[in-house]
Amino acid sequence: MKKVNSKQKFTKAGILGYFLKGCYLLFGASILASFITTFLNVILPQIISFTVDSVIGEEAPSSIFAHFAGLFGGVDYLKSNIWIIAVIIAVIALLMATFQYFVTYFNQRANQSLMRRMRNSLFSHIQRLPLRWHIEHQTGDIIQRCTSDADAISNFVSNQLVYLFRIIIIVVLSVVFMFITNVYLALIALAFVPVLIGYSLYFYRGARASFKKCDEEEGVLSTIAQENLTGVRVVRAFGRERYERDKFEKQNVYYTGLWVRVMRSMARFWTVNGGVAAVQGMVLLIVGTVFCVKGDLSAGDLIAFISYNTMLMGPVRQLGRIISNMSRAGVSIARIGEIMNAEEEEYGAVGELNGDIEFKNVGFEYEEGKPVLHDVSFKVPQGSTLGVLGSTGSGKSTLMYLLDRLYPVTEGTITIGGTDINEIPPATIRSNIGLVLQEGYLYTGTIAENISVAGDNIGQEGIEHAAAAACVDENIKSFSQGYDTLVGERGVTLSGGQKQRVSIARTLVRKTPILIFDDSLSAVDSDTDAAIRARLAEEFGGATVILISHRITTVMHADNIIVMDGGTIAEQGTGRELLQKNGIYRQIYDMQMSLPDELKKEVGYGE
Ligand SMILES: Nc1ncnc2c1ncn2[C@@H]1O[C@H](COP(=O)(O)OP(=O)(O)OP(=O)(O)O)[C@@H](O)[C@H]1O
Ligand SMILES: [Mg+2]
Repeated sequence: MKKVNSKQKFTKAGILGYFLKGCYLLFGASILASFITTFLNVILPQIISFTVDSVIGEEAPSSIFAHFAGLFGGVDYLKSNIWIIAVIIAVIALLMATFQYFVTYFNQRANQSLMRRMRNSLFSHIQRLPLRWHIEHQTGDIIQRCTSDADAISNFVSNQLVYLFRIIIIVVLSVVFMFITNVYLALIALAFVPVLIGYSLYFYRGARASFKKCDEEEGVLSTIAQENLTGVRVVRAFGRERYERDKFEKQNVYYTGLWVRVMRSMARFWTVNGGVAAVQGMVLLIVGTVFCVKGDLSAGDLIAFISYNTMLMGPVRQLGRIISNMSRAGVSIARIGEIMNAEEEEYGAVGELNGDIEFKNVGFEYEEGKPVLHDVSFKVPQGSTLGVLGSTGSGKSTLMYLLDRLYPVTEGTITIGGTDINEIPPATIRSNIGLVLQEGYLYTGTIAENISVAGDNIGQEGIEHAAAAACVDENIKSFSQGYDTLVGERGVTLSGGQKQRVSIARTLVRKTPILIFDDSLSAVDSDTDAAIRARLAEEFGGATVILISHRITTVMHADNIIVMDGGTIAEQGTGRELLQKNGIYRQIYDMQMSLPDELKKEVGYGE
């Protein structure tokens, strides 16, 4: 699929046009079939009128019908063989059914291709949006836009837009034939039309707010359900089932009440709407009969006229609903437009990246006026290991997000090999930095799939090798299905430590020259922690490594250690130097090392 230009800005019509590309022909075929069906539908009353007046009755047929009757042996022949007309009507009905099939078939095909294009464009566009955008938007909201709003648009195009063409054809044809049949009756019939349209526009304008409210409350209801399902462990652990059930029940009752109210006013609307239509039909029938009795109108023409009026009234009665749905679709298009118009991240090309990493007076704020990093400067020479220690919330993870260009630096510069990272394409940065995130996330799939997700064709051997380096291979082999074990939604079947190590293995398969472990060894015991670090040193000797940890033994042997405190570097140096400083590092060291000897041994401190 063609990439959307990241700078391209869509108007509402532009978006619709973009999504519709490639479906025009199919929609066109549907509209054409619809035209044919409608045309046949208009012809039918003419034949019946002719039959009533000239075949059953004695009136002379119009020249068209005289010609038409001539094709079947003339009016007199038809009089004694009326079954021929029955056959003609049956054939027309069959043709109508066939073309109706094409209307639906082409419309549905076009609609599915529209939906596919819409889903693809949205998904690939969202994939390219910067992390900041994702954090600023709620997942539920994004999903609702991609599902409900996309549905509303497809519904609009395939039902309303195509239907609108059909309505225009029906209205034009039936009005024309009504006037041909009898001008006075046509004027009476049309006099009711503005009343019906005006009433339904008035009603739907008022109802729009109620529909919107219903949509919003449905959103609230599904959010409650979703939160409960994702947080099921917390709900159970705190015995909150009853509370949650009551909360859901309350919203459910409220939502139901809203709908009942909307439906009640809908019922009123359709009653009045139907009443007006019935009065109109009655007036036409009375006036029409009077005309017939007076000889101004034939019986056949009255039948034909009533048929055209029925054809006309269907769309007219629905018009308010259609216009209301259109304005709803307009809102959906605008909501999807907001996503499509969000600027994509320039991803750039994948290239080699090497050299020293340097932070120079780096500062950063997620929200304006709330700095989380200030004046951070340090250097990580190529091939060395940096340890990062610091209390929670001190900005350790943020440092790494900046290095990975997940967020733009707001103050100072970060360079790799002397080049400002703003000059290096994100694709290059991310293909050279292996970042094990603090929260291990596993895809739904097998363990093997999860490990190989970022490595191209690494094969089973590569997967097992990485798993061994992350010290998780034995765990995996002990599962009955080994590497083919399925890890469910968010990896529920693995323990926290196993999940962490699978995430590490996933990063290691990429063999990147820079490796970052954001607190990635927190859920494993100290022995495993040490074993993993030993494997890393052995296999990734040349790599630049950044280890973030709360555990002093994880970082104490690093070439350089920075201690973060409240968004700045409090201390910096080797483990030995920092011990002599008697600062935060020393405090943490003393605290973690002052465990009783046997316990210390058990948890692996002081190796
Ligand atoms: N997306 C965000 N929007 C606003 N503030 C944020 C965001 N992410 C983090 N912060 C804030 O930035 C500060 C630093 O967070 P960061 O995650 O870098 O800390 P950390 O040192 O990694 O902590 P931990 O050891 O708990 O992982 C915190 O005060 C946090 O509240
Ligand atoms: Mg963190």
